[in-house]
Amino acid sequence: MLLQRTIFVLALTVNVALCGYQRSIVHFDMKGAPPKVAYFKQLLSTVSGLGATGVLLEWEDMFPYQGDLARIINKNAYTEDEVISILDHAQQLGLEVIPLVQTLAHMEWILKNEEYAVLREDERYPMVACIGDPQSLELILDSVNQLMRVHSKFNTNYIHIGADEAFQVGICEADRLILPIKYENNTLRMIFDHLKKVSINVTEEFPATKILMWYDELKSAPLELIKEYSLDDLVIPVVWKYTSNLDNDLPPEMWKNMSYSFKEVWGGSAFKGADGASRYWNRLKPYILNNKEWYLQNEKYKSHFTTFDSIIITGWQRYDHFASLCELWPTSMVSLALNLIVLTKFHIDTASAEQVIQALNCPPSTTLDQLVAGSDRCRYPGYRARDAIRDYVQLKTFFENSTWVHNRENGWLQSSHMRLAASNPYYIDAIGKAYERTLKKLDTVSSNLRTAYTEIFYPDVIEEFMTDYVNPFYDDLQKRKEAVQTIDTKRSYGPRPWFRL
Ligand SMILES: *[C@@H]1O[C@H](CO)[C@@H](O)[C@H](O)[C@H]1NC(C)=O
Ligand SMILES: *[C@@H]1O[C@H](CO)[C@@H](O)[C@H](O)[C@H]1NC(C)=O
Ligand SMILES: *[C@@H]1O[C@H](CO)[C@@H](O)[C@H](O)[C@H]1NC(C)=O
Ligand SMILES: *[C@@H]1O[C@H](CO)[C@@H](O)[C@H](O)[C@H]1NC(C)=O
Repeated sequence: MLLQRTIFVLALTVNVALCGYQRSIVHFDMKGAPPKVAYFKQLLSTVSGLGATGVLLEWEDMFPYQGDLARIINKNAYTEDEVISILDHAQQLGLEVIPLVQTLAHMEWILKNEEYAVLREDERYPMVACIGDPQSLELILDSVNQLMRVHSKFNTNYIHIGADEAFQVGICEADRLILPIKYENNTLRMIFDHLKKVSINVTEEFPATKILMWYDELKSAPLELIKEYSLDDLVIPVVWKYTSNLDNDLPPEMWKNMSYSFKEVWGGSAFKGADGASRYWNRLKPYILNNKEWYLQNEKYKSHFTTFDSIIITGWQRYDHFASLCELWPTSMVSLALNLIVLTKFHIDTASAEQVIQALNCPPSTTLDQLVAGSDRCRYPGYRARDAIRDYVQLKTFFENSTWVHNRENGWLQSSHMRLAASNPYYIDAIGKAYERTLKKLDTVSSNLRTAYTEIFYPDVIEEFMTDYVNPFYDDLQKRKEAVQTIDTKRSYGPRPWFRL
């Protein structure tokens, strides 16, 4: 049973009173592998079954923006009817829905396009908007208002305006002109003024909606500046950190700084997509450690604030719009399930274990070890994709583990052997067989991957996944197999040297 074995990372090392977060919000990142509508709804149901209280929907280019933005949205973007049916489903499940729209940086999906390149902070990088240019504000407010127009058909207590990782500021011409005149050459003033304008617009248009933003720009800002631009009234900071040493990475002084300006603060942890930009199998452990630390941060710093009872558990699909796909939903359901428990209870008790088994549709005999290894027989949405990715990882690891093959490659199937089509068949025939066996299994796994992905993702996702993670392995094996076959057709070699210069 689930409780018979305790995974070491879950073991209690500190004696803490049971407390934890009251509000746990699960992040849906549509930057990569956005779920098809039916899968999206199934995910929402599962997320709700796992005990999350809400979802943060980062639509990015998948939102059906109209007007000018309609030119550049994803060709797979949801229709407005689809968005409404998704929101409606979430509401029926009792999930709090928080939309996220980026209003400062991580605007790659817009700024990458020729039409909007003039609005870049740094013309070389399609990341941050040139906020000194009134057209940027117009564009940003347009996107926020379009999003809110749809979301506000439902309860929308919060909107998240992003604002993390603004790596370039004060570079575009409009900024350089306005900085000395309006902002005493202080880029933070310019950022705060921008965020204030965005926040006031939202607050006036949608008075029932409070504003969340990532804490990046707030954490080291002078108190007076936060106050001068009324950000202490206008926004709630979301402190995010995905590491496993939060005492070090979120120093007490940072929390003090936050508490001087803000009565309320939220946390931001991760259950996937924060363990390497190209990791496609969820290792679980770093996320468990991270969320465990977040539980303890709450214990430590709760008293600094009137309200610190909410956390967003992020699940990145890519690090940014251009980055490769990382752990996708199917491989991360167990991570989500266990980390939600960690955030609310710190350790896994019988009741929560049973809730996981039920919500993930697992056989009652499922053990924690099986869940962690991905060898369970749970039937949650997307489980076929999880199975296929797991089989791929195992096959690849098995091959990489086959030391005898690699020893022979090192001796008799280097690049020169393949280029010259010359080697000793006595040593390479057996590894040729190993290539063939692996390729045959790989065909089956690839076909399973395709079928499973097609059910839940749009067609480009499988192409990208295969191109980055499967094909290089496949192609290398194929090339080696062919080299062995070619060598096997040869009966004799002339005298060395074989390289013709
Ligand atoms: C907020 O921004 C939208 C979009 O630019 C605009 O139509 C609206 O008038 C603004 N609202 C306020 C109160 O400024
Ligand atoms: C801002 O920078 C410009 C150029 O470096 C300088 O001439 C100006 O005096 C500065 N203004 C303020 C208010 O510091
Ligand atoms: C706290 O705020 C001050 C400015 O008021 C800043 O200098 C300092 O770096 C901040 N500390 C942390 C840990 O962010
Ligand atoms: C690969 O080798 C490691 C270390 O010896 C082992 O733990 C692991 O089970 C092996 N994996 C496979 C798929 O053979």
